[in-house]
Amino acid sequence: MNVKPDFSKNANMASTAPAFLSIYDMHAYYGESYIIQGISFNVHEGEILALLGRNGAGKTTTLRGIARMDDPQVTHGEIWLDHKHLHTMKSHQAAVAGIGLVPEDRSIIPGLTVEENLQLAQIVEPIGWTLDRLYDLFPRLGERRKQEGITLSGGEQQMLAIARALARDIKVLLLDEPYEGLAPVIVDEIEKTLIHIKEQGITTVIVEQNAVRALELADRAVILDTGSIVFDGSAAEVLENAELRAEYLAI
Ligand SMILES: Nc1ncnc2c1ncn2[C@@H]1O[C@H](COP(=O)(O)OP(=O)(O)O)[C@@H](O)[C@H]1O
Ligand SMILES: [Mg+2]
Repeated sequence: MNVKPDFSKNANMASTAPAFLSIYDMHAYYGESYIIQGISFNVHEGEILALLGRNGAGKTTTLRGIARMDDPQVTHGEIWLDHKHLHTMKSHQAAVAGIGLVPEDRSIIPGLTVEENLQLAQIVEPIGWTLDRLYDLFPRLGERRKQEGITLSGGEQQMLAIARALARDIKVLLLDEPYEGLAPVIVDEIEKTLIHIKEQGITTVIVEQNAVRALELADRAVILDTGSIVFDGSAAEVLENAELRAEYLAI
């Protein structure tokens, strides 16, 4: 198990950050509650990393910290994306720098059609995939482009949430429980699009309760337990290690 970050605390991180996305000694709070207790991990360019752990382990908090949301408060640590320091940024700046967070609630904007939800994402430059390209990836969205976004099925809303992230020029897609509440056949469909997105060179971090499906998709895995990292290694290693799965993933 490799849980140690492979870079020095004293080094100039801008020139030595070894990975595309690096989280180094991140600590995060909600008010007085100390949730993320000094985590470090790397995400390599173009890979899919599964960020796993039981309910309440701190997965959502970690994604929100990386995306620089107002809460949690990240009090300590460094977050680097492609040699830019995200830890000094607000969420809108992190978005411009290339972070695309797809939140668990999907956050489809009421009153707007599918197409308007996508166009709204393109108000802020740099613009990512064109609408045509997004509809090629998600034909269901193309067919429903004039339909109000919140009237879509759960799976289609998840597709819209992912498409909306890609409508901006992102480098990293952060997915919070994308398969939640979806039928296996829809999960299959979304999984195929995630493979296609990877082939386009986009880096993905997937948080998923359906750990087996996430591990089958992912190259590597990081497992969190009460705000600390307990495993950092290959996804295949987790699939093969029944003890690890039972202890930290309850599968
Ligand atoms: N807004 C919040 N305010 C206070 N505590 C929170 C808040 N959101 C989450 N927590 C707490 O932080 C811990 C980690 O939560 P979370 O990151 O959502 O876990 P996970 O996504 O792994 O299920 C949990 O103990 C949870 O109760
Ligand atoms: Mg969560």
